[in-house]
Amino acid sequence: MEGSKKQYVDGPRQSSPAGLIIRQKEPTNLEMPFDQLDSYLTPTELFYIRSHFPVPRIDAAGYQLRIDGAVRNPLALSYQELREMGSETQTATLECAGNGRVFLVPQVRGAQWELGAVGNAEWTGVPLRALLERAALEEDACEVVLEGADRGTPTEEPIPPGPISYARSVPREKAVQPEVLIAYRMNGRDLSRDHGYPVRAIVPGHYGMASVKWLTRIQAVREPFQGYWQTSDYGYWDFLDGKPVRRPLAEMKLKSAIARPRVYETLMPNRTCTVFGAAWAGETEVTEIAVSTDGGQTWAEAHFLDPARRHAWRRWKFDWLTPKQPGQYTLLARAKDANGTVQPDQHDWNYGSYVISHLLPIEVIVEDPVRPER
Ligand code: MTE
Repeated sequence: MEGSKKQYVDGPRQSSPAGLIIRQKEPTNLEMPFDQLDSYLTPTELFYIRSHFPVPRIDAAGYQLRIDGAVRNPLALSYQELREMGSETQTATLECAGNGRVFLVPQVRGAQWELGAVGNAEWTGVPLRALLERAALEEDACEVVLEGADRGTPTEEPIPPGPISYARSVPREKAVQPEVLIAYRMNGRDLSRDHGYPVRAIVPGHYGMASVKWLTRIQAVREPFQGYWQTSDYGYWDFLDGKPVRRPLAEMKLKSAIARPRVYETLMPNRTCTVFGAAWAGETEVTEIAVSTDGGQTWAEAHFLDPARRHAWRRWKFDWLTPKQPGQYTLLARAKDANGTVQPDQHDWNYGSYVISHLLPIEVIVEDPVRPER
């Protein structure tokens, strides 16, 4: 039939053909297939989803955002009131602190993220500092706790005594920076439920766990917040006067990731293959990408496709003439930032199963395609 045939004709697509990879069905944890990286802004339908609890249903008409704690003028705002305040739009890369975990050897617990628990989007909302000014933040407030409407009991030890809401704090110095948004739009559309509808925080430069979704409360505190996702989870070992101390994860580390070719992709010998990826840094800019196609013995410079913009990634590419000699080759991409920092060779185990920002090898096979025997 003419009608049914038409469904298979290629036309302009309404949505991304790629879809997401399931890392956990419920709560929803979905990853972008990173080889689908193309555009500077990650389409919302390709943007990874990382949720600790089932998505709460929030009716925008009844929504209230409370701002209280160490403030002189506690207040509550409706969704409408928030949207009527002056807004800013900011491009920011969010990366889950566990992105790339599957590369760790030995294998560790937690969602086995490959490369795609990262995305770059345009966020619109009210700067947090405008809200803190309106609430008259007290001088002695040291952090701002962001609390979501989602609740549950975490399954990882030490298990809290009862259900808790997802909450994370932001240090005062960061909370008052103009880039930190209380956002209600992503890529020009109202937030989707999975990404925090109706309102979420966006903390550019910090790992994704700081950007609290389904935000219902902003509480200024006078002592460092010691909540579950601040201490038990999303923490790392630092050293103070030679002694290990626990600290909460915060700023994203410099990282470059190869999107194409893919792991174990077969490439033709003596042909140009474009190695393509993206790189990002926490509070600074990525200034250089070097690519190695021989496991790190030699390096060549890649070209950026995007300008340097704080808090947003830069895509890059490198044209590689594949060797005539068939074999397995290891590709690496190494970023350098404006402070002269370069990505490390090895994972730093003080971060445990988080901050996987070392060089991640992508092995490819160079050979003529195998023709199946008849
Ligand atoms: N906010 C709430 N309320 N609940 C959550 O589980 N997950 C955090 C953060 N904000 C989370 C949350 C984590 S770990 C990450 S990486 C980002 O949201 C992911 O944001 P996304 O799902 O929009 O990509």
